[in-house]
Amino acid sequence: MPIAPLDPRLTIHDLLIAAQPEGVVSAFADDVRNGLTAMPKQLPPKYFYDALGSHLFEAICQLPEYYLTRAETAIFERHASAIVAAIHDLTSIAEFGSGSAVKSRYLIAALLAQRATVHYQPLDISPKILRQSAEALLESYAGLSVTGYVCDYLQQMPPLERRDKGRVLVLFLGSNIGNYTPDEARALLQRMRQTMQPGDGLLLGADLKKDRRVLEAAYDDALGVTAAFNLNVLLRINQQLGADFDLRQFAHSAVFNETHSRMEMYAVSRVAQTVRLAALDLSVAFAAGEMIHTEYSHKFDAAQLAALATATGFAPTRVWRDEGGLFSSNLWLAA
Ligand code: TRP
Repeated sequence: MPIAPLDPRLTIHDLLIAAQPEGVVSAFADDVRNGLTAMPKQLPPKYFYDALGSHLFEAICQLPEYYLTRAETAIFERHASAIVAAIHDLTSIAEFGSGSAVKSRYLIAALLAQRATVHYQPLDISPKILRQSAEALLESYAGLSVTGYVCDYLQQMPPLERRDKGRVLVLFLGSNIGNYTPDEARALLQRMRQTMQPGDGLLLGADLKKDRRVLEAAYDDALGVTAAFNLNVLLRINQQLGADFDLRQFAHSAVFNETHSRMEMYAVSRVAQTVRLAALDLSVAFAAGEMIHTEYSHKFDAAQLAALATATGFAPTRVWRDEGGLFSSNLWLAA
């Protein structure tokens, strides 16, 4: 059921509430119980992105060490017109994990320079961030209409909205694809492909392999914003599940794993301690130095990306890189 719109150009569907009428908290509770009783301990990365986590991520994007957002933005500043022109009869843009949708503005504006109206379909797990970004976009662009989905796209993928019988460009930016294991990434891209029609495009942001010092600094910045972002998931468990994690007793760790070409993020227990999670009636013991795995960020090369495209039903069509060669924007057409 759509939530009452303030602007007639805006519709927001909340699939999270629709899927779990007993409360979004119960899926979180199940995932936290499973993750903290597993060996090794782990937590699903999607829980980073509550309202505070989404704001902390926006702050990460401003850090000198976190080059990804700047590199992808530089690509769009330069090539947005060419990107949207590469898909014939493009009328709609959809985005998985839209967040603040600041980078998407370049593509929306470029398409609005080619045609009077554009439809934008953002999907995000944070209802607050989705509404804020949608309202800000509508304020900026008179020709825009927005249908937003609050959803966990791993669980539920809404149908793509198509306007004027035109084509859709799906955005999956920020190297979010790298946060999945290779098997998960293939499965996710295949499911995205199923919502698309031949000739639709996928613009996939993918971070590239590089010197480990550059990578480790990007995920462990001097100000400690990434550490706060990572440990915020423990704060969320305290708030929503009545837990007593002492955040000062956990450290952030970010290490590049050369074998798997991925950054690995952990929350590390500084001491031996037991944490109580009241809502789960669960006590979790940590050894000194024990780690909770919170996130991967895989780093790709051109051959891997081309293979991923053909394995998931896409034709790799064009690649744009920033001047430093740090990051890639890959346009794949649904085959
Ligand atoms: N998609 C982002 C990336 O892989 C997510 C991210 C950035 C992240 N910094 C992080 C995830 C730190 C966990 C911890 O770059």
